[in-house]
Amino acid sequence: MSVQKEIKKVTTHTLQKMKAGGEKISMITAYDFSFASIFDAAGIDIILVGDSASNVMAGHETTLPITLDQMIYHAQSVVRGVNRCLVVVDMPFGSYQSNTQIALASAIKIMKETGGHSVKMEGGEEAIDAVHKIVSAGIPVMGHLGLTPQSIYKFGTYTVRAKETDEAAKLKKDALLLQEAGAFAIVLEKIPAALAKEVSESLHIPTIGIGAGGHCDGQVLVMHDMLGINVEFKPRFLRTYLNLHEQIDTAVKQYISDVKSKDFPNEQEQY
Ligand code: KIV
Repeated sequence: MSVQKEIKKVTTHTLQKMKAGGEKISMITAYDFSFASIFDAAGIDIILVGDSASNVMAGHETTLPITLDQMIYHAQSVVRGVNRCLVVVDMPFGSYQSNTQIALASAIKIMKETGGHSVKMEGGEEAIDAVHKIVSAGIPVMGHLGLTPQSIYKFGTYTVRAKETDEAAKLKKDALLLQEAGAFAIVLEKIPAALAKEVSESLHIPTIGIGAGGHCDGQVLVMHDMLGINVEFKPRFLRTYLNLHEQIDTAVKQYISDVKSKDFPNEQEQY
């Protein structure tokens, strides 16, 4: 008789309980089946299929060019690698800003075609009607405030947001509006740690920080940054856990040398 171990899946309710119980939430980005399988098996709570795919997978300078269909392709690949964690799919630029009907249609397309569990949208008050409409259709929404990369041409730079009183006040208001509209969590990107603490304490839904200090209810990093694949990007908030760029470079150079010197394949590596 085979005893199958029941897998306890992470849901949006699990995340609320984690916040209430003081357990920190771990989130990482992934864009394909292989890495998603490794992260899920390692025990990550949330995988974000981020529109950072536009940068790290496609090589664009910003997140703006990636399309809804390209996000869906990445999310489908990630979902096939996941057994346990919650999958959040970024709604790309242009898929929700024009009106709430378009926003809902985009969110439904993501949910139907990918098998993902939720969507993420950038913005506060400006996005509230769309958040409300999508949540009303039964689709969990994660918000995203602070440095919102889809608005990079409005901001002009990737520096820390909400250092001034006015912007901090708007961010606090936006966080409450997102919670009221039914968002299940909010990403806080690159804002002062003291502000992130205040926002996290004012909400009953979890905050997930990136460059927002240790008082957020969870943390997220882009996989290429934390694994040391993307060596150009070295912001103060980033901790790198591997130096994969260097390790891959060494391995590939060794492979090239083995092929050129006819060392590879040897007798044992052929039929
Ligand atoms: O697209 C992304 O990777 C993100 C994270 C930086 C939160 O939105």
